[in-house]
Amino acid sequence: MTRSTIATPDVITIKPTRMDFTFDADTVPDYWAFKDPFCTHFMGALSTLFPVGERFFVDSVRALHEHAGGAVTSKDISGFIGQEAMHSLEHVSMNAMLEAKGLPALQGEKFTLGLLNLARRILTPRQQLAVTVALEHFTAIIANRLLTDANIMDNLSDEMRPIWMWHAIEETEHKAVAFDLYQNVPGNNHAERVVFQVLATVILAAVVAAFQVWFMARDKQLFNLRSWAFGLKTLFNGRAGVLSGLAGEYLDFFKRDFHPWEHENSALVAYWRERLDGARAQAA
Ligand SMILES: [Fe+2]
Ligand SMILES: [Fe+2]
Repeated sequence: MTRSTIATPDVITIKPTRMDFTFDADTVPDYWAFKDPFCTHFMGALSTLFPVGERFFVDSVRALHEHAGGAVTSKDISGFIGQEAMHSLEHVSMNAMLEAKGLPALQGEKFTLGLLNLARRILTPRQQLAVTVALEHFTAIIANRLLTDANIMDNLSDEMRPIWMWHAIEETEHKAVAFDLYQNVPGNNHAERVVFQVLATVILAAVVAAFQVWFMARDKQLFNLRSWAFGLKTLFNGRAGVLSGLAGEYLDFFKRDFHPWEHENSALVAYWRERLDGARAQAA
């Protein structure tokens, strides 16, 4: 495989932070993203995927950790595992709040776990790592969008902004760990990385779309056409769309010499870490 010479910048340290977020279903607004059902349930659907998804990431990296070396150190791998373990925990408590609001977050987690367990049964360890690499590309480009688009951060309620800010910062910090490890595993190849990105994209899109419908239906908003129109426009409005605007960055993954840090955004990490620390100090 053609190897990129790009690596995680030296200014980036990958270390877990314990946040101990608490979410109270009575005080978190029902529509905490853009004051809108679709947008709230889209982010809720993503949160539903995280606890079991991130455990899968951890397991796939841990299973091949002996290939650390070069661009990815054992310390980076420990940092990655620690960060994803914390994300899992915090999204478990966020999902408990969604459940308390009557949304099917726990059933969604169970469904996701079934899919991932199937992947565990039928894929080799290297293929499982390729799935993680593919999905980490999504988390990296979505995190970058969250950290660069003030319109998103400004439209999250105060109770919900910190978890997304923190998660996006750490996804950026560790975005190359699974990728660099995969490149060290014997037999890795560009075709495999591409095939698993295509598969991961199709399955992820189908699951998120199904969860979106499920959450909207459970919230009796399935026929709220105004919300569907607003939400779909927010996600898919060309270059301005939260998802459609990521098309270029998404496609970069398919290049032979792609590396996650060719999207150099380490300055964002420093900027948002400071804001997050400030927000925590204020809340304390
Ligand atoms: Fe994460
Ligand atoms: Fe991650």
